[in-house]
Formats: sequence, C-alpha cells, structure tokens
Amino acid sequence: MKVLRSLSDYVCWKKTLSSSKSIGFVPTMGALHDGHLSLVEASTKNAEITVVSIFINPKQFSENEDFNTYPRDLENDLNKLKDYNVSAVFVPSINDIYETEEPAIIFDHPFAQTLEGASRPHFFPGVIDVVSRLFNIVQPNYAHFGRKDAQQLILIQKMVDAADYPITIIPGETVREPGGLAMSSRNEYLTSNQKRELGIIWESLGVAKKMLDNGDLCANRICRAIENTLKKISRLKIDYVSIVDIENLKEVSGDVRGDVLISLAVSVGGVRLIDNIFYAY
Ligand code: PAF
Repeated sequence: MKVLRSLSDYVCWKKTLSSSKSIGFVPTMGALHDGHLSLVEASTKNAEITVVSIFINPKQFSENEDFNTYPRDLENDLNKLKDYNVSAVFVPSINDIYETEEPAIIFDHPFAQTLEGASRPHFFPGVIDVVSRLFNIVQPNYAHFGRKDAQQLILIQKMVDAADYPITIIPGETVREPGGLAMSSRNEYLTSNQKRELGIIWESLGVAKKMLDNGDLCANRICRAIENTLKKISRLKIDYVSIVDIENLKEVSGDVRGDVLISLAVSVGGVRLIDNIFYAY
C-alpha cells in the first residue's frame, strides 16, 4: 500500500500503472470507520486497483462548523487500511487540491438547495468542487459513496452525468453501530452511552417504515411520528424530518407513492447527525 502525500507523488505513481487496469476510488475525509471500510472492501472486489483519498475539505465546512476540530488520525487510518487490498492512499495538501482557484466544473443543480443544502448552503458546492478535482486527479473507473449521505450520492451521480465523467458511481449501504446509529466520523464526538441512546434515530425511521408497511401512507403523519419518537431524547434538536419523491426531491404533500427518500437531520450537543431510508411503495 503506497502512501502518496502529494499531488506530484500521485501523478508519478499513476504513470507506473498499466492503463488497462481498472481503478476504484474511495474518497474520504479520514477518521475511517466500518462504513468507509465497507466501501473500500467493495472497491477491492470490483476493481484491480483501489485508491483511497484522505482529505478534509475546508470548502464543505462553514465558518461556524467543525473544520478545526474534525477528527484527524492519519496513522490510525493507514493502519486500518492495511488490512485491505488497497493499492494507494492519496493524502494531498490543501494547496495540491486548490492549486487553481477556478472550480474544475461548473455544476449547479436544484437538488443542492433542499434538505442538507437548505440547512448548509455551503456544503454541496464544496463537495462538488472537491470531488470533481479529485476525480480529475485520480481518474478512476469507479467511485464509491455511502447511502448515509443520500443527497450527496444523488448529486454526485448528477454531476457525473452532467460532466460526462467516464466513472461508474457505486453506492454502499449504511453501516450501523450495534444500537442502530449510522456510522459517521462525527460519532467520534459521542460517548458510547450517547451512541447507544442515539439508536433512537434509526428507531424513528423504523417507525416510518412500519407505518408504510401497514398501509399508513400519509407523509405528514409519518413525519410527525418520526419527530415524536425523536423527542423521547429531550436534548436532541431536530433540524428537519422529510419525505421527498426520489425523482425530484420535492416534499411529498399527500400520500406516499412510488420511490421516496425519508431523511432527517438532528443535533445533540452541537454534533450534527443525519440518517435516511429509501422506501419504494
Ligand atoms: O462524504 C465525505 O466524506 C465527503 O463529503 C467527501 C465525499 C469525501 C468529499 O469531501
């Protein structure tokens, strides 16, 4: 496993590869957990070469978010990756990625304005910018993104289509803590007790699924049931609970029909957590 700590290291290494070999790419911001590792494993099974990037992208954090305190432990991350058949870990500097100020592509999509985009307007422009820059450098055939960040996954697929990148996006299932909390690097801010208690988030989505399974299709009633479940933890602040049509990301106003994304964002003691399920009715 090569550790490539600069853009020039990556470019030199890439030149040594046979162009016929397929490259799978797993972009990350480090603080690797089993969710990341499941994407890495999928890539090593799917492609001949797997590249993992570790880069905490300042552009996807706002001034009052946790860029400075975001968990960083490169040695630990590299140790975890050693157990997988990873060919290279790319650890660029901020200058390597943002050596040109101009974004790699201009991509502005209405899907970036709802849900996470409404709460964090800086987030998707920052993600799209860094992912397109990373794609241009890494030049993968496949790229892996988790379903926990469902809207990110959808927007990256849209960006790939719009820019005609020859890259297949491969989604990975959300991996959960034993109590159901979706794995996230930000879970490092939580104690084990908090993680267990926050299984309520997954439980609330289970309530929604059960209602739909039982034919209770009213989107408003389902959202209220999710909120009522979440409110069992009084310190938990709800940002949004939403059911959107997967085709247009528009809020379902009446009954749920077709494929929907049920998603929510909450915060506990300043730690922001998101989760979702897809449901096909
Ligand atoms: O999902 C993430 O970890 C980040 O948003 C990504 C895709 C690595 C871009 O910085």
